[in-house]
Amino acid sequence: MTRPIADAAVHGEVTVRRWAPEDGAELRAVILASAEQLRPRMVWVDLWAPADCDPAATVDGWNDDWREGGDLHVGIFEGGTISGGGGLHRRIGDDGLEIGYWLGSHARGRGLATIAAGLLTDLAFADAAIGRVRIAHDVTNAASEGIPKRLGYVAVGESACERPLGPADTGRDRIWEVTRAAWPGYASLA
Ligand SMILES: CC(C)(COP(=O)(O)OP(=O)(O)OC[C@H]1O[C@@H](n2cnc3c(N)ncnc32)[C@H](O)[C@@H]1OP(=O)(O)O)[C@@H](O)C(=O)NCCC(=O)NCCS
Repeated sequence: MTRPIADAAVHGEVTVRRWAPEDGAELRAVILASAEQLRPRMVWVDLWAPADCDPAATVDGWNDDWREGGDLHVGIFEGGTISGGGGLHRRIGDDGLEIGYWLGSHARGRGLATIAAGLLTDLAFADAAIGRVRIAHDVTNAASEGIPKRLGYVAVGESACERPLGPADTGRDRIWEVTRAAWPGYASLA
């Protein structure tokens, strides 16, 4: 069995950790409050809208998957409050993980997603089997592109997007990677 991905890291006031079912109600509230800004890129936003949506059950499902060696779904917290979310996804073969991230509208423009992606890179490389970490974003998503650039990832090309597209996405992704040998650890970059 594949080992579960390391699931918590801290930098100053910012914590990245696996979601707990108790986070569910606040997570839903942040997504709904940010829906207009998230919807263009995040195809899942409206799944959180129905009144009978059960966020704790969704988190339980993510955590069951993680325990079996699957994807990691994390919250990004600043001082204990939810700023956004992210993840490490097993989409690129046994030696790699792909990072995803989003921020609530209240948390943008202060570097929190860059910190979170840096911490997620550390978590990915905590597993000796992981040799590369990838960030893929639509070629028109300039805000997302800033994150791998700031972290020193290298642009390795473009390809057709294999994730479900948001309405603002073109379907063409730019791909960035960092290898274990090239990653200095987020603490060295901060
Ligand atoms: C992608 C997304 C997370 C980026 O959010 P963001 O706030 O721009 O990213 P960060 O938190 O890293 O903040 C970076 C911004 O803060 C500024 N900043 C301020 N202090 C900073 C610091 N200490 N460190 C880094 N950046 C800092 C940067 O200059 C940058 O602003 P700029 O783009 O005007 O130059 C956000 O746009 C989002 O949630 N989009 C919808 C979901 C999405 O597209 N996800 C990615 C799919 S591939």
